[in-house]
Amino acid sequence: MSGIVLIGAQWGDEGKGKIVDFLAESANVIVRFQGGNNAGHTLVVNNQKIILHLIPSGILRENKICIIGNGVVIDPSVLFKELHILKENNLLPDNTNLLISSSAHIIMPYHKSIDSIRENKATTKIGTTGRGIGPAYEDKVARSGIRVSDLLYPEHLKEKLKIILEEKNQYITKVLNGAPFDFDGVYEESVKYGEMIRPYVADTVECLHKFIKERKNILFEGAQGTMLDVDHGTYPFVTSSNTVAGNASIGGGVPMSAITKVVGVVKAYTTRVGNGPFPTEEKSKVGDFLREKGGEYGATTGRPRRCGWIDLVSLKRAIMLNGIDRIVVTKLDVLNELDTIKVCVSYKYKGSEIDTIPYGLNQIDSCEPIYREFKGWRKDISHIRDGIDLPVEAKDYLKFIEDYLETKISIVSVGAERNENIVFENIF
Ligand code: GDP
Ligand code: IMO
Ligand code: MG
Repeated sequence: MSGIVLIGAQWGDEGKGKIVDFLAESANVIVRFQGGNNAGHTLVVNNQKIILHLIPSGILRENKICIIGNGVVIDPSVLFKELHILKENNLLPDNTNLLISSSAHIIMPYHKSIDSIRENKATTKIGTTGRGIGPAYEDKVARSGIRVSDLLYPEHLKEKLKIILEEKNQYITKVLNGAPFDFDGVYEESVKYGEMIRPYVADTVECLHKFIKERKNILFEGAQGTMLDVDHGTYPFVTSSNTVAGNASIGGGVPMSAITKVVGVVKAYTTRVGNGPFPTEEKSKVGDFLREKGGEYGATTGRPRRCGWIDLVSLKRAIMLNGIDRIVVTKLDVLNELDTIKVCVSYKYKGSEIDTIPYGLNQIDSCEPIYREFKGWRKDISHIRDGIDLPVEAKDYLKFIEDYLETKISIVSVGAERNENIVFENIF
């Protein structure tokens, strides 16, 4: 049995979806454990592109069980739209099982409204996806959230929602100057979604424990990235959940002993969407090149992603925080045409050179990257499937990353298609 946690090691969009879809071939169960539809995970299979926001990226494989765990926040309208698109494109194998935790929290219409109004008004904008993620997690921690289980009992929901909505409307109208929500509308929609979600609801903790006992292979699919973690990221420019590997245990509902390996997905350069510090950002032609070559536009919001060089200082932090055992490097092919490739190996901070992220109040903002330069390979590598065939310059680049991070690279992804990979070792 393997319990593999796959997480993003940067600021999200590392290519987690593609790698989960690839690895899912060897998995029995795929679990989303945090985040919501702020995520946009892109899968390309036989030239067909599919973007998943909520449903685990194992859904395209046959005979797999996909679980949306208790740590996820669910917008039912997005969930059913996603299922509809999959069915319409004949991408939902008949025997696919989707199980949804009864304890997962629901993103309610007022959460989305609060998220948007706050972002519009704020002087320091986070640049959220506007999907209601933060407000839904706030309510979870405040113990005033609506959970999947609440939707299944209309009478109980009515009582609970009345009290909650009254308070939300006060806040929306008096503090945010927004429009109030009509109780009947919100209630009726919630009851409707409750009926639609009922067939998928399960005690996913019991299910996962059964799978662990049966020694099944379980793959935990992270969303966002380490530097967006609410505790460990570039706060306040973060998402509202813990994105690090440790949360797979809590958000999936499994003991830590069920986790046998942590895989960190690392893009061969760095991107960030939304605001906040990004030391290696290139607001230059190089940034534009990476954006165009890498198709770096948000899979959820369509926003252009900020682009820059790989940052080994922040990646070293990600290795520490997650306990990354193996690395998957993605999008190496995007660097094909470059003469020179830069790698950030330390920062200049207050006149000295440091190789850790300085602590304190967003001190990372005042860090200037110090680079080591590598010669580009200037060849197409997307057809390569055996590491031996990689140009020597690409080998040097990867070797340097491995040595600096003291962590082995298991897979190098050289294209968006499911099988465009160089596999150095089996992850399961
Ligand atoms: P995720 O959120 O981590 O799943 O990543 P996204 O799907 O948001 O962004 C990754 C983008 O890169 C998607 O458009 C993928 O199809 C694409 N992609 C993934 N791996 C590769 C790769 O190795 N090469 C290229 N060229 N594109 C890739
Ligand atoms: P995947 O899973 C990249 C960013 C937003 C914003 C911040 C907070 O596709 O890698 P939120 O809506 O979560 O409150 O926004 O987090 N963000 C992501 N950036 N990839 C993601 O997911 C993201 N999910 C949220 O842009 O800066
Ligand atoms: Mg994404």
